[in-house]
Amino acid sequence: MKYPRIAVFASGTGSNAESLMKKMKDLGCEIEFVFSDKRDVGVLEKALRLGVKTYLVEKTSDRATHEEEVLKLVHRHRIDWIFLAGYMRLISASFLQTLQSHHQGATQIVNIHPSLLPAYPGSQAMERAFADQVPHSGITVHFVDEGMDTGKIIMQEQVALQKFESFSDFKMKMHSVEHRLYGQFLENVVTGKIPTLSYKETVEC
Ligand code: GAR
Repeated sequence: MKYPRIAVFASGTGSNAESLMKKMKDLGCEIEFVFSDKRDVGVLEKALRLGVKTYLVEKTSDRATHEEEVLKLVHRHRIDWIFLAGYMRLISASFLQTLQSHHQGATQIVNIHPSLLPAYPGSQAMERAFADQVPHSGITVHFVDEGMDTGKIIMQEQVALQKFESFSDFKMKMHSVEHRLYGQFLENVVTGKIPTLSYKETVEC
């Protein structure tokens, strides 16, 4: 079966990346590669354990040079979709435009965020919602733009915060919804329910 070529970008523990890798295997396919901008993080170990190719490009220089290195990987593997999964770095407008130019104008880069956006964008979203004791928070899957968790929303699901619930219970519930929701989106992409505009090969690297 021909399926879209998907890369996962992550910076940390990698529970979402792991669940995407496993879901892809369940669908009979493989994540093309996992990329991390941080050394010694759980996601790299998880990918290695699952036999998925990994790349590490640390940000040792300016943003443009770092993104150029990352783009080379995307071009080399003719990636159709990028799934951000705890990737704690903003993507520049020029990186997005380059990707779009290879995908006939489509934005095939998505992110998962642990809040009901536009509420609680940025880091520590679960912690902040918990500290505010909101009656419910939730999970958002959205397209990526150059802002901080500001792109067009694709899917959202509410998660209730019960009175007297501990943070660790709340966090566990939130993660389990994340894994299911992102897995559902991945399945929709792989099965073609969400169409993919394939990578146009015009780049040499
Ligand atoms: C996840 O909760 C993800 O939604 C969040 O980082 C966590 C990474 O956990 N992403 C953001 O906050 C993006 N703004 P993981 O490494 O276990 O997947």
